Amino acid sequence: MNLDFSQIVPYVPFILEGIWATLKFVSVSIVFGLILGIVLALCKITKKPFIKWLADAYTSIFRGTPLILQLWIIYFAVPQLTGYDIEIFLSAVLAFGLNSAAYVSEIIRAGILAVDKGQTEAAEALGVPYKPMMINIILPQALKNILPALMNEFITLTKESALVATIGYMDIMRRAQIVGADIYRNFEPLLLAGVIYWVMIFILTRLGSAVERRMRQSD
Ligand code: ARG
Repeated sequence: MNLDFSQIVPYVPFILEGIWATLKFVSVSIVFGLILGIVLALCKITKKPFIKWLADAYTSIFRGTPLILQLWIIYFAVPQLTGYDIEIFLSAVLAFGLNSAAYVSEIIRAGILAVDKGQTEAAEALGVPYKPMMINIILPQALKNILPALMNEFITLTKESALVATIGYMDIMRRAQIVGADIYRNFEPLLLAGVIYWVMIFILTRLGSAVERRMRQSD
């Protein structure tokens, strides 16, 4: 078997640095996607047909096309129209945040609809206006139910993050690829990248379970 791990030893710190690069843009994307996702979810449950239609169309487009296509359009194609380059980090955050918002909005919409109707009725009977009702009564209850689904979305996003290697963002994947080209051996660096991703997802999963357990305790 042609395996020689001694050759990648000097490159290990270089690949490990990618963890920070990956985490940095994924976490910003998650926050961005979450905020936009909540806004979209609220648009989807309004009684205004046009707003609803817009939010549905948004979801349809971003879920109906590959993420890599969205990423490439933002990074490679949009500058052709505007004449301005979009910086690599910003492109990654935009593509992943906009994409994630589509998925998050569906998760949250379902979560809001799953909150017992009596909660809304009681709030309305007490004269609580729409905004505080949503923020203080409905959303916290919805959030608790959808936490596992949201956690799933964050895990998906972390794994899909490897796509940014295709636009040259120096994440774990791109670094593994560079090392592979450097030493003419691909198995070892890719295996290391795989282990890193697996550990990251493992930790994220554990974190998710812990948060879930706490939420259930507060019942
Ligand atoms: N590979 C899928 C795509 O290209 C994943 C999209 C991202 N998924 C997500 N839950 N944000 O469309």
